[in-house]
Amino acid sequence: MGWTMRLVAAALFLGFTVVVTRAQVRLSPCASTPLPDEDASFCKGSLEVSYTELENISCKVVPNCDNYREKITSWPPPLVKYPEASESATYMLVMVDPDAPSRSTPLARFWRHWLVTNIAGTNMKMGKIQGQELSPYQPPTPPPRTGLHRYQFLIYILTTQNISLLPQETVSPGAWQLDQFLTRFNLKEPAAATQFMTQNHMDPPPVRAPGGGGGGNVQIPPGGGSSEPTYKPKQASGLALPVCIHIAHHLWSG
Ligand SMILES: *[C@@H]1O[C@H](CO)[C@@H](O)[C@H](O)[C@H]1NC(C)=O
Ligand SMILES: *[C@@H]1O[C@H](CO)[C@@H](O)[C@H](O)[C@H]1NC(C)=O
Repeated sequence: MGWTMRLVAAALFLGFTVVVTRAQVRLSPCASTPLPDEDASFCKGSLEVSYTELENISCKVVPNCDNYREKITSWPPPLVKYPEASESATYMLVMVDPDAPSRSTPLARFWRHWLVTNIAGTNMKMGKIQGQELSPYQPPTPPPRTGLHRYQFLIYILTTQNISLLPQETVSPGAWQLDQFLTRFNLKEPAAATQFMTQNHMDPPPVRAPGGGGGGNVQIPPGGGSSEPTYKPKQASGLALPVCIHIAHHLWSG
C-alpha cells in the first residue's frame, strides 16, 4: 500500500471514530425512569409535563444525571398539556408537593407550587398555562437529605369563575389544606392528574438494599415510601402554626 492509500485509510478511520464517539455522546443513557407502581397509580388521563430540557416527565423520576435535578430547580414553569381538554370548558391547574419537608414527616403538606384558574380549554389542550395565577410558579427545590419528593399536577374543570385563596392561605405556600380548598368550591374528582419525583441534587442515590445502612441520613423506603405518615400536625390554636410555618418556610421549601 502506498503512503497515499495509508493516509486515506487513516483519515477514514479517524473520521469513523469521531462519528461513532459523537453517536455515543448523543445516545448517552440519561433517560427518566417510570414511577414505582404505587406512585404511578396516581397518574390519570394523558397529561404531559415538559420542562426546558426534559420532555414529558409525567409519571417519571427526574434522572440523576446531566444535572437535571439541579437544573429543574431554576427552569421556568413547565408546559402542562392535556390533549383531551374540552375547548368549551374552563380549567384550573394545581401543583403541590405532598412531601414537604419530607415524605416520612410531611409537616408542611401540601406545599403549593402553582395555582392557576380560568385556563381556557384551547390553552389547556396546547399546554399553555395562561389564566388567573393565584399562586405563582415555584420550582421543585427538595431540601437536602429529605428523599424523593412527589410533585403533583391536578387539572379540574371549573363551574365557577370565582376561585380564590383565603387570606390565611396566602400567608405561606406551606401546610395548604388542599381538601378544604377544593371542598369550598365543590371540586371533586380531577379531570386529569399526574406526578413526577425528584430529589435534592446533592444527595447520594437512594440505597435500596434492605438493612444496608450505607446511605447516611438518606432513607428511602422501598418503592419510595408509600406508607401513610402516622404523624399529624396538631391544629395549634391562634397564630402558633402559621408563625411556625412562616419561619420554617425558608428551611423547608418544597
Ligand atoms: C406523557 O406521559 C404520560 C405518562 O406516561 C402519558 O400518559 C402521555 O401520553 C405522554 N404524552 C406525550 C405527548 O408523550
Ligand atoms: C364573582 O365575583 C364577582 C366579582 O367579585 C361578583 O360580582 C360575582 O357576584 C361573583 N359570583 C359568584 C357566583 O360568587
